[in-house]
Amino acid sequence: MDTAPNLVLIGPMGAGKTSIGKRLAERFGLAFVDADREVEMHTGVTVATIFDCEGEAGFRERERAALARLLDGRDTLIATGGGAVLDAGSRALMRERGFVVHLHVGVEGQLQRLARCTNRPLLQREDRETVLRELAAAREPLYADAADLRFDTRDLSPTEATSRLAELL
Ligand code: S3P
Repeated sequence: MDTAPNLVLIGPMGAGKTSIGKRLAERFGLAFVDADREVEMHTGVTVATIFDCEGEAGFRERERAALARLLDGRDTLIATGGGAVLDAGSRALMRERGFVVHLHVGVEGQLQRLARCTNRPLLQREDRETVLRELAAAREPLYADAADLRFDTRDLSPTEATSRLAELL
C-alpha cells in the first residue's frame, strides 16, 4: 500500500470493515471514515431513509459522490458500504486513489455477526440467509475485481484481524 494515497476496505455487511478499519487506521496514523456515515452527514438523513425515498439507485449515487469527496484527500482509511462495488464509478475511484482490501467473512459468519442488526435496509426480509447468499453470488466477483488484497476475517476478533492484516500491508 506504500504508494496509494488512501486505504479502502470493501466487503460484505458484517465483514468487519468498520471495527477493523478503526483499529487499522489508528495503527497506521490514518484518519478513519465510514462512507455510510459520510453520506448521512452530507444528507442529514439515515441510509435507511435514503433507501426508502430514493431507492437503492439513489443511494448508490450518493455513495459514489461521498467516495469521490473522501478519496480526493489522502491518508484516510475509508470503510465502504457492502454494495459500493456495484457502481462502476465507485470501483474506478477506489482503485485510482486507494489501496483496496477485500475483507471476506462468508455467509455463516455474516449471519452470526449480524444477528442483532436491525437497521440494514437490505436485511429486512425474514430469510436473511437467502438474501446474503444472493448478494454474495452477485458481488464476490466485483470484490475480487476491485481488490489489491483479500483477507479472511472469519473466526478472528477485530483485534486479531487488525494485527494480522497490518503485517500484510
Ligand atoms: C449495504 C451495506 C451497508 C449500507 C447499505 C447497503 C449493501 O453498509 O451501505 O445498507 O448494499 O450491502 P455495511 O456494509 O457497512 O453494512
